[in-house]
Order: sequence, then C-alpha cells, then structure tokens
Amino acid sequence: MKKRFLPFLLFSLFAVSSCGASSGKQTYIGIISAMDNEIQLLLKEANIKEEKDIAGITYHIGTLKDKPVIISRSGIGKVNASSGITTLLNSFDISKVLFTGVAGGLRDNEEVLDVVVGTEVVEHDYGFITNDGFEWGGGDPGKKEPGEYYECDKDLVDLAYSSALSVMGEDHVFKGLIATGDQFIASSEYVEWLTKEFDAYACEMEGASVAKVCKNYNKPLAILRTLSDKADGNAHDSYADFGDRAADQSSKIVMKMLESLN
Ligand code: ADE
Repeated sequence: MKKRFLPFLLFSLFAVSSCGASSGKQTYIGIISAMDNEIQLLLKEANIKEEKDIAGITYHIGTLKDKPVIISRSGIGKVNASSGITTLLNSFDISKVLFTGVAGGLRDNEEVLDVVVGTEVVEHDYGFITNDGFEWGGGDPGKKEPGEYYECDKDLVDLAYSSALSVMGEDHVFKGLIATGDQFIASSEYVEWLTKEFDAYACEMEGASVAKVCKNYNKPLAILRTLSDKADGNAHDSYADFGDRAADQSSKIVMKMLESLN
C-alpha cells in the first residue's frame, strides 16, 4: 500500500467504528396530530434541527423539553392518520407515540376545554348500511362479528392523566373510550347513540387508525384530546371559537408528559 493512503485508511476506520459505537440510530418520541393548529405550540417551544418531507408530510425533528422528538401533522381523518403514522414508524426509530389534538365531548358532565385521555378507541362508523339503516360491526359480513377496539398503553394513559390533572386541576379531566370516525359530529342524536353504543367520552377522526397501526408495530400510544365542542348542533361554532385554545391545551399536557418520559 502506498504510504500516502495510510492516513485516509485510518480516518475511514475511525469514522466507521465511531458510528458503530453510538449504534447509529437516534430514538425519538413521536408526536402526531391531525391539524396544524394542534402542533403549533409544540413547534414554537421545540428546538427543531431538521425537517424531512416524506410521502406528503413534514416531520419536524429536534428536541422538546430536552427530549428527542419528531413532531408531525398527518391531516384529518382515518386515511390521512394511517398514512402519517405508518410513514413515521417506518422512517424513524420511534419509542412511543403521543397523539395530541381536539375532540367533541359526549357526556353531560363534560365541558368545552375539558380533557379526555383515551383508554381505548373504536371505529364508530365501521359496519353495515342496510334497508334498516346503519348497523355497527365489522369483520366477516356473513357473521357480523363486532368491530375492533384498540387499547392505549396503560403506563402512558396514567402519565397522560396525571399530567392533565396537574395542568388542569380536578373536575376537568376524564379518561375513557374515544370513538373515531370519518365525520365531524354535530348531532345530539348521534351523541346519544355514541354514548349508548360505546359508553364513549369523546369523538374525533383519527385515534382508532393510529392505535391500529401502533398495535401492528408494537408501539405504546397515548391519545390526548381537549374538547373544542360538544358534538351537538352548536359544534361548528364552538369549534371555531375554542379550537385553537383546545389544541394548545393538549400541547401543554404533552409537554408536561415529556418532562417524565425518556
Ligand atoms: N374534533 C373536534 N370536534 C369534533 C367533532 N364534533 N366530531 C369529530 N371530530 C371532532
């Protein structure tokens, strides 16, 4: 070997071995929402070092509360959410996922700007349309098996709940089932059906699809929703008035959670 190649060879060996020593990949906490306003406070508070556009979504990579995070907005509804979370989990090393955003409240004792932590999620719009109307269910059409419920991670649920309590105080934080569907609900009649059929606490448009993908990838998930409306006839106006505040409030709870997460 010619002598002048020796320094180059030594440098290359050092570079390769030091990459290996740090075992290459950084692990991140994935934070995902449906809409821009649901991550705007997080992006303002974060130290974003890099942005990657993959499959139509921008992934903001950096630190928040000194924790490595990737923050992204998937778009509204189950299809967008499935695509966004799948790309996130396929493209980066993600340890856990926090979904943050707003929802419609379903219970009489809930108020706009209260918080619902999802313990499990279900697709409320999955089923059959027959001459008798909509019948919820899924699986094999011949057998009419029930649709699937997806559980959130118990430890993350507990942390989300205690973080929400410390930000909000008691009486304003609930935990329970969240119903997901591809509709913005603005109907008292449908609210009644959602509480009767599923004993649900909130309705939104992404949770179940994110939970399904997280389950497939074996990633722990928490879903945090602040109520922007009560999913009734006033829901559109209420969303317009309270949507941004509700979105920021969920973000504040996510930041509180990050203080206790690795
Ligand atoms: N997100 C916020 N409010 C909602 C509602 N009423 N229905 C579905 N998703 C929502």
